[in-house]
Amino acid sequence: MIQWDQSLETGFLAIDEQHQELFKRVNEVIEAYNVGKARQEVKKTLQFLEEYVHTHFTMEEELQLQYKYPKYKEHKEMHEYFIKQIAEIKSRYEQNGPKITVTMALNRILLTWLREHILRVDKAFVDYIHSLE
Ligand SMILES: [Fe+2]
Ligand SMILES: [Fe+2]
Repeated sequence: MIQWDQSLETGFLAIDEQHQELFKRVNEVIEAYNVGKARQEVKKTLQFLEEYVHTHFTMEEELQLQYKYPKYKEHKEMHEYFIKQIAEIKSRYEQNGPKITVTMALNRILLTWLREHILRVDKAFVDYIHSLE
């Protein structure tokens, strides 16, 4: 299980709250898998992730446009990559059911992508906003 911790805070409340929710949901599916309830949970979480990630990324991208963030395009491309990863896990799930690979893929996304993205990319963008104030 990957816990959300304070080092992941960007300092922008609405963004931090959404990041926490993302962590919570992905952890829920990993836990459900561990207690053998994966089938409903994986499906529910993948659906949730697709919608939530869209909402979250749109909010960040709109803020970036509003503040004329110079790395907007790069940042948006990373979001698109993440969306593609979710779609891939979802189609794998639809073909194979909630096998270990699905949970591992979700786990890996949190560990290597979401966490890194927040620490490096989202933080840089929030720092930029704060530097304008
Ligand atoms: Fe982002
Ligand atoms: Fe984010």
